[in-house]
Amino acid sequence: MEKVKIAILGFGNVGTGVWKILQENRKEIMKRSNYDIEVAKILVSDINKKREIELPKGVLTNNIDDIINDDSIKIVVELIGGRGQAKEYMIRAMKAKKHIVTANKLVVANWGEELFKIAEEENVLFYYEASVAGGIPIIREINESLTANRIEQIIGIINGTTNYILSKMTNDGISFDEALKEAQDKGYAEADPTSDVDGFDAVYKLAIMASLAFGTKVDHDCIYREGIRNISAVDIEYAQKFGYTIKLLAIAKEENNKLELRVHPTLIPSNHPMANVNDVFNAILIKGNAVGELMLYGKGAGDLPTGSAVVGDIISILRNNVKPSDLKAISGEEDFKEVKNSDENESEFYIRLNVKDRAGVLGDTAKIFGKNNVSITSLTQDVVHKEYVLLAFITHKSSERNIRESLKKIKELENVNEIESIIRIESFN
Ligand code: HSE
Repeated sequence: MEKVKIAILGFGNVGTGVWKILQENRKEIMKRSNYDIEVAKILVSDINKKREIELPKGVLTNNIDDIINDDSIKIVVELIGGRGQAKEYMIRAMKAKKHIVTANKLVVANWGEELFKIAEEENVLFYYEASVAGGIPIIREINESLTANRIEQIIGIINGTTNYILSKMTNDGISFDEALKEAQDKGYAEADPTSDVDGFDAVYKLAIMASLAFGTKVDHDCIYREGIRNISAVDIEYAQKFGYTIKLLAIAKEENNKLELRVHPTLIPSNHPMANVNDVFNAILIKGNAVGELMLYGKGAGDLPTGSAVVGDIISILRNNVKPSDLKAISGEEDFKEVKNSDENESEFYIRLNVKDRAGVLGDTAKIFGKNNVSITSLTQDVVHKEYVLLAFITHKSSERNIRESLKKIKELENVNEIESIIRIESFN
């Protein structure tokens, strides 16, 4: 069988997973790709570092030129991550006529257009299945299996770390800080958890999915973003009382050629399958106008799940079954679709106020909601202290503008101490 040489840039968690899969499933991979894949070089910063896996002599290098200048290497697998050298190395590799496989959402979300253009010019392939939701084959699903559809919605739990934290808070009744600490101890959350906890990771992944699904360029800066730091045990408890579970959702919807793109904590009905996606698992629900609703569930991170997506891409390249021109959606050559201002978005809302226990406060609040066309579905009141009362409302579908205007006025009421929480609801209608 013909041999093909590949190189891996970076040998961390995912790189190790890729190596293991290539060894463990060698026979199956040979059958499916028609090639015997040899990892000829692995780029690392320290070649003497002690590693879990013993590699053949001469495979490790700390010099990218050893890979770029080696014409026998046909595919470069970029697993360095981040925005630093990863992009530059991928461009250099493509210019040296090497195909690319990457797991780098940051680079694809920021510079996908530029990289796709270079891939086309150089007539090489650029695959990035592992950049969104690790082991879940969502890119291929959108790019190949669902191409008969007009995609109407994508709603996903696409960040495992935040899903772990929210699951722990919900199921074990612990605080955000305690759950974050557990996630860090288990190696799910980074020492600096900003990217996950504040929703940036999910925003990049949503930008990639939305650009493919809706055939347009998506600037990730236009995606509304809110993380989970302010979610409290009290909100989780109230949500449960109303029949909801809190999840960090990434939402992309298209209506009348306008896009609604947002990442934020969301109350979802506790009997919806998404509410039962727990721990580090991811799930993505897609609604196509032909297929209807489709849901994918799996591991969004980890050495073997992400490695599975990476090796799948290597095999696809060897089979060469999709040409660069088929993957144009992200290159922005289609219509540029407008992203709605978040003020125009409509949802039901959960709103929790801390108010003084005085006659008329409920009436005054309700009056302001009414004046601003915000209709209340249900409300609950718990006396938790002599000095204050918590009022929690669920609204009917309202525009964000009307909610904002109402809350501005409610905040001015003498008997309202604080607006403690405003969380959107997704009912999956
Ligand atoms: N940090 C991500 C997550 C995995 O928690 O889902 C890599 O994108």
